[in-house]
Amino acid sequence: MARRKKIYEGKAKTLYEGPEPGTIVQYFKDDATAFNAEKKDVIEGKGVLNNMLSEYFMLGLANVGVPTHFLKRLNMREQLVRSCEIIPLEVIVRNYAAGSMAKRMGIEEGTQLPRPIVEYSYKDDALGDPLVPEEYIAAFGWASQQDMDDILSIALRVNDFLSGVMYGVGIKLIDFKIEIGRVFEGDFQRLVVADEISPDSCRLWDIETCEKLDKDVFRRDLGSLTDAYTEVANRLGVMPKGQPPVSKPTLIN
Ligand code: TMP
Repeated sequence: MARRKKIYEGKAKTLYEGPEPGTIVQYFKDDATAFNAEKKDVIEGKGVLNNMLSEYFMLGLANVGVPTHFLKRLNMREQLVRSCEIIPLEVIVRNYAAGSMAKRMGIEEGTQLPRPIVEYSYKDDALGDPLVPEEYIAAFGWASQQDMDDILSIALRVNDFLSGVMYGVGIKLIDFKIEIGRVFEGDFQRLVVADEISPDSCRLWDIETCEKLDKDVFRRDLGSLTDAYTEVANRLGVMPKGQPPVSKPTLIN
């Protein structure tokens, strides 16, 4: 098979040219980074778990009418997605104070917020993804006011969906981050949920024990990250029970 053309290598995923125009193959690596890649490790099996979990969430979103870039999972580590232009924003939704917000506002982690709060960071590693006011977004031309209205409504719909799904398996959705892409169809553009939705980009706490089941386990050295992600996958029925996430080499079609 001819080697595929690599389009982009990020911290947790590599993107390759897809088999047809307008498609991309998204490969989930085992690399874990935190604090803008100051902390790094390779966590065997993480890529497989995130590939499966992201597929599960993206398909679920499509089922409730939220457009996503996801087309299909190809194998244990790869999925086919629609190529889109990523808006350079991290769209963060918070239901409970945690992480940078808890620190910034001096609120104890786990405190329920009066309502979901949506905030935006400018995606720029060199600047450390700074939080930006909405006014910057239109002024610097990253997204129009109409886009921002659509992004807010998508973010809140994703929050309702994910909160409900997680609640159903005894997990509290503390916060999460999504990225939004533009898909062009002739003269029209449409916004879709892109990138990934996985425990790398969410905070997930067990409802009863408040045990962390997300990337904070790695950021804060709280134990095994694969155990935490496997727990989420098992509760959702995403990984068949007893099947180890650490895959043997698989043939790529
Ligand atoms: P924060 O509290 O560190 O700002 O993170 C808020 C949410 O966004 C949390 O669920 C983790 C997620 N997140 C990412 O997915 N990527 C990032 O680079 C950062 C900083 C946070």
